[in-house]
Amino acid sequence: MLSSEIRRSFLEFFAARGHRIVPSSSVIPHGDPTLLFTNAGMNQFKDVFLGVGTRDYTRAANTQKCIRVSGKHNDLEEVGYDTYHHTFFEMLGNWSFGDYYKAEAIAWAWELLTQVWKLPPERLYATVYHTDDESFALWQRHLPDEHILLFGDKDNFWEMGETGPCGPCTEIHYDRTPRANGRELVNAGTQDVIEIWNNVFIQYNRTADGTLEELPRKHVDTGMGLERITAVLQGKDSNYDTDLFVPLITRIEELSGKRYEHNLGSAVGIAMRVMADHIRALSFAIADGALPGNEGRGYVLRRILRRAVRYSRNLGFSEPTLYRLVETLAEIMGDPFPELRHHRATIERVIHAEEEMFLATLDRGIERFAAIAAQTKARGETTIRGEDAFLLYDSFGFPLDLTELMAREEGLAVDRSGFDRCMTQQRERSRQAHKRHHVEVITRSLDGESQFVGYDTLESESRVLSVDDRTIVLATTPFYVESGGQVSDTGTIDAGDITIRVTDVQRISAAIVHVCDQPVPPSLVGRTVVARVDADRRWSIQRNHTATHLVHEALRRVLGEHVKQSGSLVAPDRLRFDFSHFSKITSDERAEIERIVNEKILERIPVETRVLPIEEARRVPGVKMFFGDKYGDIVRVVIVDETFSAEFCGGTHVRNTSEIGLFALTDESAIAAGVRRIEAVTGRGLAEHIEHLRQRIAQLSAHEADLTERLRTLERELEKVRLDRMLSTLVPQLLSHAAMVGGIRVISAQIEASDVEHLRTIAEAVRQQMKHSGIGLLAATINDKVQMVCIVTDDLAARYHAGKLVARVAEQLGGKGGGRPTLATAGVRSTERLDDALTQFPLLLEQWIPQD
Ligand code: ALA
Repeated sequence: MLSSEIRRSFLEFFAARGHRIVPSSSVIPHGDPTLLFTNAGMNQFKDVFLGVGTRDYTRAANTQKCIRVSGKHNDLEEVGYDTYHHTFFEMLGNWSFGDYYKAEAIAWAWELLTQVWKLPPERLYATVYHTDDESFALWQRHLPDEHILLFGDKDNFWEMGETGPCGPCTEIHYDRTPRANGRELVNAGTQDVIEIWNNVFIQYNRTADGTLEELPRKHVDTGMGLERITAVLQGKDSNYDTDLFVPLITRIEELSGKRYEHNLGSAVGIAMRVMADHIRALSFAIADGALPGNEGRGYVLRRILRRAVRYSRNLGFSEPTLYRLVETLAEIMGDPFPELRHHRATIERVIHAEEEMFLATLDRGIERFAAIAAQTKARGETTIRGEDAFLLYDSFGFPLDLTELMAREEGLAVDRSGFDRCMTQQRERSRQAHKRHHVEVITRSLDGESQFVGYDTLESESRVLSVDDRTIVLATTPFYVESGGQVSDTGTIDAGDITIRVTDVQRISAAIVHVCDQPVPPSLVGRTVVARVDADRRWSIQRNHTATHLVHEALRRVLGEHVKQSGSLVAPDRLRFDFSHFSKITSDERAEIERIVNEKILERIPVETRVLPIEEARRVPGVKMFFGDKYGDIVRVVIVDETFSAEFCGGTHVRNTSEIGLFALTDESAIAAGVRRIEAVTGRGLAEHIEHLRQRIAQLSAHEADLTERLRTLERELEKVRLDRMLSTLVPQLLSHAAMVGGIRVISAQIEASDVEHLRTIAEAVRQQMKHSGIGLLAATINDKVQMVCIVTDDLAARYHAGKLVARVAEQLGGKGGGRPTLATAGVRSTERLDDALTQFPLLLEQWIPQD
């Protein structure tokens, strides 16, 4: 029977018995903070069990998508190492809401298994809660006593989570041992005898203080893993050998070029099972709207993905691969769960991005892990320190369980509580940073508070409220305190007799505290001083802040509405903007973003700020606000052209976009899966950037000139080496073929040369070698013409003039030549008769009459 037929026959069986077939709920539980993922079919009926919700039916059945990787039901560690645990599985279930109870539930379970699906009764066992005599008696109608086993809370009392509906249960186990004698193996954690169906009799609610509260009505909640019952009905030992998994395993085999190994201990087998399993949890979770991330559900998904990536390397995969399994999964499960087909592109994109990001640090992380493990052992310790595990987590993206897994392979443990401590500290740090992020800056002057006047002026007179060491608090101040990404101002405080530099500003409750580079005299308290912001710096910051708003909108227009700000930095020299987006920005997109921003700058748009009651501010068309941020009753909205950009913002801005000057993107990168970062410059920063580029170009061209020069030198050297090598064989050859004419060695030969210069070089080398009493005529065909060189050693130069000799030969061949007495060249158009001329050269010398 195919898995699809099993699914259908289960639902038909219960439909025929008055059950409403309901759809699976999402794997992301909505409205239940006690769960990260849907972990059982009954989740969607929790309210009915607790008596707070109702349905218009009292019997229901379905197949439910479940993920068990966190909380009370967590099978993650087992997955891959056995053949019947999964991160994601389908739970076939039937329910009674205060309707039928134990008798019907048990009778129908028996009927479906033994009569419809024809499982042999001798292979079935029932386990019963040790005090549940009623269920025991009901089972006695079907099974001999030795097939009914009693267990306690651990095995036969089912709970959904730390709190919620629960009750005693009776489970049905299937015996796969060859001789059907697996009684002792029930609940022993082996694949030979596995639980296939759980019937829970919900009668309590576990409350937060741990006590059991009796429910007003009693219910039935059953669950049967489709993957397991499919394996049983298809006669397979392993869920991975059923039609639910085989296509995935086959695809992994194809991609890796390795064969699946059934043996439980095989590294290849484990890795393939992990990949085939994890892609299901990942795909279903993403299809239902979850995304990998750093916290909660997102972090669990990230752990699953990274566990899969880590195992995939055992199959030789070093590139993103998991995402390539989504297609196969959608083929297997797209009929009952069309969301897989519908969201396939998104699922693939998210998984691919996440794989890519993890792979980029994995190798470095593995190296670092090896070093940490070695250090731990060298210290004689058996536990990896919490801060080391945290470093692997924080800088290399290793989930704690991955570090634990690798540690186990090295015979080491990991200090979990040390890790948790580091984690808590880091959360606190980032919470603080987040708090500073988008505080709306509407300040009112109350007694003892500082009033911010820096929207309108960069210089103000003020009374000193208090002084403490290097800090000073003023009643009014133009200094902006870091907020919404915009950095704090710097500047001076001038008290007439003394001027103090302000290097930082902080808000401490209602006071704006100026941090100075020197101790502030306490005598200043009560006096009036002049506070002056560094104006150039502030103007640069403002240019970048307004540009940040422009680029935010440009990104949305070019990349899509999904672009949401996830962080920003507005500094004097640059701006940085982090946002949600899944792929790299292409160069066309980049150019378009720059074009839009620069267009808005050139349009000289006045920047308008409105301070409005929050309800009114929310109604500003297209206004961007940050969900999750707390805003006061009155907020400030910064608008650049009503049809372009409006944002809730407490920062300072230019008065007109033209003041920004010009804008350029300088960098684009990924900082997390689905989060990208751009950096950009404006105004002065851009001028500096151009100067920097100019210097870089100058450096590069100097470098290039240098390289070209070196290349030339190398070419020359190479040429020389080539020549030397050639001469060392050619010259001896020529000499050995020399004729003797009246005590003179005469060489005449045709050789190969690339050009006249080359020929001359060879000829000169031959002349040098001969030293004395030698004459030669060397010819080469170059570009279809004959080139000749005649050489005469110095001692003979008075009698035989090379120029005249070569001219004579050339003349015979219809050409011309001439040159020095020791070396001369000639060129001839035709190659005919050259051989004759060369053969006759010794003769010519014999007949030569010196000095005509
Ligand atoms: N809710 C029960 C289980 O998950 C049926 O086992």
